[in-house]
Amino acid sequence: MPMSDALTDHLKSLDGFHLRDAFASDPGRAGRFSLEEGDLLLDYSKNIVTAETMRLLMERARAAGLEAMRDAMFAGEPINLTEGRAVLHVALRDPGPFQVAGKDVTGEVKEVLDRVVAFADGVRGGTIAAADGAPFSDVVNIGIGGSDLGPRMAVRALSPYREGGPKVHFVANVDGADIADTLAGLNPARTLFLIASKTFTTQETMTNAATARQWIVDNLGEDAVGAHFAAISTALDKVAEFGIGEDRVFGFWDWVGGRYSVWSAIGLSVAIAIGGTNFRQFLAGGAAADEHFRTRPLEENIPVVMGLLGDWYRTYLGYGAYAILPYDQRLIEFAAHLQQVDMESNGKRVHRDGSPVTSPTGPVIFGEPGTNGQHAFYQLLHQGTDVVPVDILVAAQPHEALSDHHAKLVANALAQTQALMRGRTLEEAREQLLAKGMDAAEADRLAPHRVFPGNRPSNTIAYRTLDPFTLGRLLAFYEHKVFVQGVLWDINSFDQWGVELGKELAGVLLPAVKGETSPELDGSTARLLAHLRAV
Ligand code: F6P
Repeated sequence: MPMSDALTDHLKSLDGFHLRDAFASDPGRAGRFSLEEGDLLLDYSKNIVTAETMRLLMERARAAGLEAMRDAMFAGEPINLTEGRAVLHVALRDPGPFQVAGKDVTGEVKEVLDRVVAFADGVRGGTIAAADGAPFSDVVNIGIGGSDLGPRMAVRALSPYREGGPKVHFVANVDGADIADTLAGLNPARTLFLIASKTFTTQETMTNAATARQWIVDNLGEDAVGAHFAAISTALDKVAEFGIGEDRVFGFWDWVGGRYSVWSAIGLSVAIAIGGTNFRQFLAGGAAADEHFRTRPLEENIPVVMGLLGDWYRTYLGYGAYAILPYDQRLIEFAAHLQQVDMESNGKRVHRDGSPVTSPTGPVIFGEPGTNGQHAFYQLLHQGTDVVPVDILVAAQPHEALSDHHAKLVANALAQTQALMRGRTLEEAREQLLAKGMDAAEADRLAPHRVFPGNRPSNTIAYRTLDPFTLGRLLAFYEHKVFVQGVLWDINSFDQWGVELGKELAGVLLPAVKGETSPELDGSTARLLAHLRAV
């Protein structure tokens, strides 16, 4: 979708716009620039937009055919056109019915989900037990990318809902340090491994799975493997080769992208951690977001508005990064998961027809929970030379009633959005220093260092509490935001060829690293290899 001339012209008309003035002159701004879904509020009033900006952005969305693409996704059309696949993760959480290539998939989805829930509750209740008949105390999910980040994020986010279930651990990296450190604290007799891999070929996961298998064999014998492993994959033949029995295998479908797979059987570790009922609530939260995205007019549609604002900053204002800042410690892995959802989806350089893009696509996504980030990188957010739009996420109610921790957390969240919006002028900085008793010359010298330009955009997303439903709704809103941006930029958000080249080259280099081959290498790679083999 080419840049809109109307928006480019409109941007010029915003020269001199400052959020501080916008709020001062318009008491109704927050009311007009906010949207609600249940207990969730998106306040987008602290963005560099006017009513005209939003009108033009909506026009752009309609011109890009957003509604038709959204409907095509829900209809199971093969919108992932480089792989010829439907993109139907919504079918995993919505009641449906859903069709892929004329076939109703609702029944299969329900069947696998029922098995996932039964298995999870069986592990939690001890009816699905270790080789010695006693319950599992620890579950290790072995997977990487989408087979790791989503479940890892959700298990951490929903830790108050564990209620006596086993501890759940995650191993992803092919670096042996990851599995070694995890296994060091575990008892093989009490440990269940979940091998999570859509393709069941991923080098990291297969290497870790083999090490885990050997650990069980060494400690409990070959016969224990069946009881101590389960697998989640679309490649059922490959799982069978690994030696995992059919009753321990949970399938899913090629129309579920890896980064959208936490809703599928890949979420088994989440279901074990929080129980089947809570896992279904997580799915229901996702379904509520889907219903909102599918049915609300664009102007009242939370992921549409979030996507359009991101487009405005990326395409028209040229901002290259975007920060996700949850004031909710248990969302510590949220930005890392969204990094994959967003950057693997929209880090693209050609349009859907293969022609090169002419304007920017996905931004760099990063983030950490507040308040920790405040003491790390917020300095740049407030006074750096780059503008980084942010999302601040905050719950009304904590799970812990610990003195005034939560009030302080909320005060910090709100203070940050205020500070970013308002800034501090040179005059205010100077006045502040003088009020502290500083002499005028010293105040003049120091004041410029204490100026905050303000006018730095933020969304604030406020919700009642971080429960399974809320997490599901939040995550699905972000997935749809990424979808919206992919449509606006006319790119295929559903493939990930960018991860392939490195994988291929690693395959060639592996025998060289092991000293088995001596391929022709560029000077730098040859020198690095020689050094690593020598020291
Ligand atoms: O990083 C590339 C990728 O294909 C991701 O899209 C995927 O989530 C990850 O690898 C893991 O793949 P698999 O689940 O097949 O092991």
